[in-house]
Amino acid sequence: MTSASAPGKIILFGEHAVVYGRPALAVPVMQVHADVEISDSRRAGIWVDAPDISLHAELSALPPTHPLATTIRNTLRAAGVTNPPSLKIRVTSTIPVASGLGSGAAVSVAIIRALSSLVNHPLSDEEVNVLAYEIEKLHHGTPSGIDNTVITYAKPVYFVRGQPIQTFSVARAFTIVIGDTGRAAPTKESVGDVRKLWEVDKSRWEAVFDKVGKIVLDARKAIESGMWERLGALMDSNHALLQEMTVSSLELDRLVLAAKAAGARGAKLSGGGRGGNMIALVKPEDAEKVASALLSAGARHTIVTTVH
Ligand code: PMV
Repeated sequence: MTSASAPGKIILFGEHAVVYGRPALAVPVMQVHADVEISDSRRAGIWVDAPDISLHAELSALPPTHPLATTIRNTLRAAGVTNPPSLKIRVTSTIPVASGLGSGAAVSVAIIRALSSLVNHPLSDEEVNVLAYEIEKLHHGTPSGIDNTVITYAKPVYFVRGQPIQTFSVARAFTIVIGDTGRAAPTKESVGDVRKLWEVDKSRWEAVFDKVGKIVLDARKAIESGMWERLGALMDSNHALLQEMTVSSLELDRLVLAAKAAGARGAKLSGGGRGGNMIALVKPEDAEKVASALLSAGARHTIVTTVH
């Protein structure tokens, strides 16, 4: 049997503007993960078992553009396997789907790693990242590539679309509380809506994206110089710009306000928006208080994570 696992992720700063060439910062979230186990099958074919989405099917019975089927086929092709053995591929995940934590990319990365090592052709991180990006296109339409990149490398990433990956260092660890609205929100829709706004008034939205880009640069400097306290105000400003882009929601705004009222230094939505998750920057000793305030304000669940 071969297995592989990939973490979730959060975008700290820069979502949406990153689609238009501005930088963004993202970090892995090790508390949640996608896990893949592959073993020989006595039944002929490649059987995919994904209980979280009630999927149990043979590969050839899945639609040709199904993300799991495409991941498996593309990985076998990249590994040069033309005549695959009979296999059972079991996919499980603790990452909530369509919530901005990168569940799709984590599943892709874990399948690519487990399958390529099973056929004795382990792929490099770079190759894994390229394959996972192809699958992101099926999920998202026009993804920037940030999810697959941070999840493949499992390190803090400063990401600019189309440029070589840059990791960055965290001089002093800081604590983030993640609050899940419980509302699944497909990133494809919010990305598409921002594109419609941009098409109608490009100069207005380019100026908004520039402001986001400046926040991201300031945030990177603050993190690299150990001044994480400065991230609070930057998060608040980034959230206001995301509201302007129309990708926040009543639930997200309610959780952001609740976190701030409970002592968070700053808070913002994270990822595609409209639902999914928000993040709050806290002093470690305030994490539990902020997490319970989020639950009282309607969060489905919370995760406390340390960025280092
Ligand atoms: O919703 P998520 O976490 O998968 O993130 C999407 C991030 C966007 O910037 C909104 C889209 C993208 O492709 O970068």
